[in-house]
Amino acid sequence: MSSKMHSVIIGGSSGIGLATAQLLLTQGHRVTITGRDPERLRQAQATLQHQATCLEMDAADPRAVRSTFEKIGAFDHLVLAFGSRKGAGPVTDVDLNDVQQGFAEKVFPHFDCARAAVKHLSGNGSITFIAAVSAHAALPGSAGLGAANGAITAMVPIFARELQPLRVNGVSPGVIDTPWWDFLPEAQKAPVFADFAAKTPVGRVGRPEDIAETIAFLIGNRFMTGHTIVCDGGLHLAA
Ligand SMILES: NC(=O)c1ccc[n+]([C@@H]2O[C@H](COP(=O)([O-])OP(=O)(O)OC[C@H]3O[C@@H](n4cnc5c(N)ncnc54)[C@H](OP(=O)(O)O)[C@@H]3O)[C@@H](O)[C@H]2O)c1
Repeated sequence: MSSKMHSVIIGGSSGIGLATAQLLLTQGHRVTITGRDPERLRQAQATLQHQATCLEMDAADPRAVRSTFEKIGAFDHLVLAFGSRKGAGPVTDVDLNDVQQGFAEKVFPHFDCARAAVKHLSGNGSITFIAAVSAHAALPGSAGLGAANGAITAMVPIFARELQPLRVNGVSPGVIDTPWWDFLPEAQKAPVFADFAAKTPVGRVGRPEDIAETIAFLIGNRFMTGHTIVCDGGLHLAA
């Protein structure tokens, strides 16, 4: 039996989850990543030099979640790195179906994956939710996203209290250059990122590694629980 910490990253085949898998592997963790698209998982597997276990799973399917956790067995840390793009737009125009879909794709599966993982997690392990800066800042056009991510930040301290001594934390990223933004054509993405960089006190958008470092900190620091860290280069200050 290996004495390595075993970390499971739901949504680990891209962006923030993939960067977290890379960092945790360098820190000596055993890593399992999940995602829905098998091709994306294959590419991630190659990026991770075949050092991680990759499992296909839809986090929004409660039965698949439970059978995947049964397959994984005991582990130490859970990172919920998947989300949704749905729910962006001005308050008066945003489609309510999109706002509901944002909750269905992110809030409910985060809630359910976290509780389904509990019986597999070691007592001195942790759960890390990924929310978003939209939960903390008045960024116009983000009310739907902010409502969903705010629901996640509200869960964090309650889960932390109920599940103690398991530690439960969150990270709220600002704008991070990941495939999450691939809905924008390249020609549009560059000016959008430039605009966010200009508004952000550190003068740039984030890299997935910026968030991975924060996740690794929350996993590693055994005195941290019940917090959501906003890691956004200061974007919330500009709202
Ligand atoms: N990028 C940003 O600017 C930004 C800002 C604030 C917050 N966030 C949050 O950060 C988190 C990670 O985003 P990211 O930028 O890393 O996005 P990303 O590059 O699109 O990665 C998302 C990952 O989640 C997986 N995934 C999505 N839905 C899933 C589901 N139902 N079941 C299992 N896996 C699923 C994706 O793989 P498959 O699609 O193959 O399943 C992929 O591995 C999200 O919660 C996002 O809302 C991102």
